[in-house]
Amino acid sequence: MSESAPTRPLLNLDALFDNPVFAGGFGLASLGAVLAFARRGAISTVGLIRRRMLVNVEISRQDPSYPWILAWLSQPREQTSFLARRLTRINKLSVTTTTSVTANGPTRASFFLQPGYGRHVIKYKHAYIVVSREKQATAKTNTGEPHETVELTTLYAHRHIFEDVFTEARALALQAHEGKTVVYSVRNFDWVPLGEPRRKRPLGSVILDEGVKERIVDDAKDFLARRQWYVDRGIPYRRGYLLYGPPGSGKSSFIQALAGELDFSVAMVNLSEIGVTDDKLAFLLTKLPERTILLLEDADSAFINRRKREADGYSGGTVTFSGLLNALDGLSAGEERIAFLTTNHIELLDPALIRPGRVDLMVHIGGATRYQAAQMWDRFYGDVDVDGAYRERFLKRLDELELFGEAKEGQPVTRTSTAAIQGLFLFNKNDMDGAISMAEGLIPPKLEAEQ
Ligand SMILES: Nc1ncnc2c1ncn2[C@@H]1O[C@H](COP(=O)(O)OP(=O)(O)O)[C@@H](O)[C@H]1O
Ligand SMILES: [Mg+2]
Repeated sequence: MSESAPTRPLLNLDALFDNPVFAGGFGLASLGAVLAFARRGAISTVGLIRRRMLVNVEISRQDPSYPWILAWLSQPREQTSFLARRLTRINKLSVTTTTSVTANGPTRASFFLQPGYGRHVIKYKHAYIVVSREKQATAKTNTGEPHETVELTTLYAHRHIFEDVFTEARALALQAHEGKTVVYSVRNFDWVPLGEPRRKRPLGSVILDEGVKERIVDDAKDFLARRQWYVDRGIPYRRGYLLYGPPGSGKSSFIQALAGELDFSVAMVNLSEIGVTDDKLAFLLTKLPERTILLLEDADSAFINRRKREADGYSGGTVTFSGLLNALDGLSAGEERIAFLTTNHIELLDPALIRPGRVDLMVHIGGATRYQAAQMWDRFYGDVDVDGAYRERFLKRLDELELFGEAKEGQPVTRTSTAAIQGLFLFNKNDMDGAISMAEGLIPPKLEAEQ
């Protein structure tokens, strides 16, 4: 047996082309057919493998897990094997920039890098996952924004990895928000976080009149502990609060602090804003983020608009009274929620608002009382004014200025606001004498003129 015997080719092309019939075209055609058949076979085999051996999850931008997954994907991963390092390098990133104004002026920007559009491979535990982030050509009908999806694909055998991915991504998101309060506002038809999550505002930093804070906080905590009570009685699990009083009395600040205390986010809608219509509000309520306080600021504008409409047939792009009622206890209201309404003009509100489930608790948050002035002093200067002597001088000065009158109809009478006192103290950070001597400035010029 010769060792160098050539292996017999499977298809002897020379012989084929020698053959006149084959060379005449018939052969070529049939070879083409065979190749085409093989190709189709290969495609359908790949299809079969894909269907049988791979699993994928599609996450739409509308889903709450979408931002978590993107954040999880942008986590740095230590890859040890050479192959994993080559394969999983993400070369295309996209950036989301959020800017926020810090208390003392300059803007802070933070950049959040995440996988860009297209396909990437990542390695997680022992599985390779193909990530495909895409913008769909078809726009969402109601916002005009392109629909976006992220698709994760892995081997069928590794399908259980997805559970871990989602659990980890969610934990990561929660951890990022720990100690923070997320405030959502409305953009187009979506709730969008307003800047970065803010550090929780301590309840102690909001100074309301004696007992007011405790009343609301206790009520909200009691409500949150009573879910089963509502379920057993078939009552929608909702509670509404109305805070009313002049601007700068701490209504919005208190709601934010309360959200922090309860570990809730805040979803804020300004009802005086043009473009927030009944339909839009109803739609937004169907997708309120979980554990969120719904905050409807400037509730009186729903009534002002009604009057305008009656007067001149105007029906502009703002929320109407019935839109507001629907948001509170209509079909769009949802089964579970806490809502806060605020207004500077209680006299404009319709009494129909004050019903169980709509507004259960109405609380006046007024201008600064003597009690609040003293508390705020202690918060600002407590460490330097140890014996409280300066505080007494300050209060005496406020009395001389006749800032606080006798209570009328159970409401304390005051001529200044907590925001004004805060302003005075901020201006005189290290100067108690300065704060006392400038106390006259607490009287708003407008009120002085009215006297
Ligand atoms: N009662 C208060 N306690 C602490 N800070 C207050 C209080 N009232 C007003 N402020 C401060 O004044 C500013 C405006 O308050 P804000 O909560 O927006 O008032 P409102 O919503 O009642 O108009 C904020 O910076 C807030 O910190
Ligand atoms: Mg406010």
